[in-house]
Amino acid sequence: MSHHPLWTLATIFTLALGSLSAQAKYNGEDRGRPVMPAQNNAKWQAECSSCHLAFPPGLLPAASWQKMMGELDQHFGTDASLSAADTTEITNYLVKHASNRWTANTAPLKITESGWYTSKHRAKEIDPAVWKRASVKSRSNCIACHRDADKGEFDEDTVRIPK
Ligand code: HEC
Ligand code: HEC
Repeated sequence: MSHHPLWTLATIFTLALGSLSAQAKYNGEDRGRPVMPAQNNAKWQAECSSCHLAFPPGLLPAASWQKMMGELDQHFGTDASLSAADTTEITNYLVKHASNRWTANTAPLKITESGWYTSKHRAKEIDPAVWKRASVKSRSNCIACHRDADKGEFDEDTVRIPK
């Protein structure tokens, strides 16, 4: 006996609802952990670590990296532009290893404004005064608390907030 069409519809509806609530976790950004790819890129390491940590590619979706790399001359108020060849090589590296779990339909440029970042760094867990400490300086200064952030290690077990 084949399934009644209404029963099938109800099943599809329930399944759809289930995946909706899973996605709602971080405002629709189900990005998982920022794992460092096994393959490094020397250009990315050299050029993207002079002003801040070379943020692991898995911290942003591909569309974000593409947008950011297309406007390096206006990079958060600074000029971080590179040669066309270096820009292409670094863009390809970032896009290849970008977060494939971030389903937000925007291309956010700030990791620190994402829903998952906000939810992992709530005032309940981290006193707001911490962000103003000289040892921390900024929300994007991951390595102040995540000592192995340059190796893509962000596990909450290894985190230590500096005095
Ligand atoms: C000339 C200095 C400079 C260079 C070089 C540079 N950046 Fe930045 N970057 C900045 C500044 C300044 C900010 C803003 C930091 C803040 O608001 O805390 C920033 C922020 C970022 C952020 C957002 C961090 C957040 O707040 O969530 C990302 C991602 C980023 N940069 C990626 C890159 C990549 C990729 C490269 C290499 C192509 C690069 N940057 C090279 C200066 C630089
Ligand atoms: C002021 C210190 C501090 C800074 C700076 C900071 N974090 Fe965190 N982060 C924490 C703490 C504390 C936790 C654990 C929160 C908890 O217990 O739920 C955490 C948790 C996380 C987690 C979840 C880890 C897990 O095991 O679930 C990720 C991912 C993460 N941070 C990424 C980042 C990134 C990326 C940056 C920089 C853009 C950053 N953090 C900057 C303190 C910091």
